Amino acid sequence: MIHVLFVCLGNICRSPMAEAIFRKLVYEEGLESKIKVDSAGIGHWHVGDPPHEGTKGILEENTISYEGMTARQLEEKDWDDYDYLIAMDDKNIADMKEIREEINVVVAKLLDYIPESEVRDVPDPFFTGNFQYVYELISVGCRELLEKIKKDHNL
Ligand code: 4NP
Repeated sequence: MIHVLFVCLGNICRSPMAEAIFRKLVYEEGLESKIKVDSAGIGHWHVGDPPHEGTKGILEENTISYEGMTARQLEEKDWDDYDYLIAMDDKNIADMKEIREEINVVVAKLLDYIPESEVRDVPDPFFTGNFQYVYELISVGCRELLEKIKKDHNL
């Protein structure tokens, strides 16, 4: 089993959006028995909360389920339990390094999987309000990430 964890600051906007989109892609490829997906936040402020209304809205528009998803905080143990820790921006990466340094886990930003993208960080729609743009960026990033994982693991 390959374990993928999406990480952002609050775990209510970007990483739950990535989790829901990626899970749908995994399901469409029939890989749900091989790839497990979750998300977590650096901060504790929204622990237990469902995704933000903006994230729920854009997922509903695109018929992507977020059923049962609630925010949780990233913890040191996640480095033991996951193979890929996929962050949204440079600040997430810096915060993650404060929690744990680990060489046997892939720690990367989602948009690293789109080498041609001029945008390197997924902007935070909690502050920008632009959930549509974030949805587009995350969708492409998730598709590329899944291709990379398939290639890495001969799936
Ligand atoms: P996210 O957005 O990291 O994409 O979930 C945020 C959500 C909440 C907060 C910050 C960012 N907050 O400060 O509460």
